[in-house]
Amino acid sequence: MQRYEQLLLENKAWAQEKVQDDPQFFERLVNIQRPDFLWIGCSDSRVPPNEITQTQPGEIFIHRNIANMVVHTDLNLLSVLQYAVEVLKVKHIIVCGHYGCGGVKAAMSRSSYGIINKWLRNIKDVYRFHQGEIDDLSSEDDRVNRLIELNVEEQVLNLAKTSIIQKAWKTEGRPHLHGWVYSLHDGVIKPLVEMAANTPLDHPIYEYDNLTDETV
Ligand code: CO
Repeated sequence: MQRYEQLLLENKAWAQEKVQDDPQFFERLVNIQRPDFLWIGCSDSRVPPNEITQTQPGEIFIHRNIANMVVHTDLNLLSVLQYAVEVLKVKHIIVCGHYGCGGVKAAMSRSSYGIINKWLRNIKDVYRFHQGEIDDLSSEDDRVNRLIELNVEEQVLNLAKTSIIQKAWKTEGRPHLHGWVYSLHDGVIKPLVEMAANTPLDHPIYEYDNLTDETV
């Protein structure tokens, strides 16, 4: 049997097991999704959001990309964000990075990797903002891991700078934003930063003062 065929077999077994444990499991989920959380994580195969938080289908709306970035021109991310905030009405958004992230490591080097250079540029900018603090650390691993933490914090700020979040904060007092980092060594998530709704931004120039329902 091919390895990919094994995936389909495992899927059948999983579906049967779910129904055995809870006969209404799929029926309940088929017509409605009402997750409380949007998760923005790294695509890394070792950081599966549902598994590491022991959550079930229906509990977390998920967006993943290389190095869990919130890029303000990324239509994919912005579409997910708008849907999660305005339609699903999530209460919390979690940006979860992970130590040892290959995307951040690559961004800290001076190697060219082709098209992904454009994506990694956003992380190089975060390094530039915090270069003094990062360069003071003695080992390469410590420098990369500190940039991973600072990058998560920057992406939380990037969320707060979107009109989507600012509008929801103003009108509904949600969602709360969280920055977390996951350790590949012990599987434990460390919370780094939390921004309750309507927390002032790092600079007032990012705060829109003319948001209306029509603003996108
Ligand atoms: Co990663």
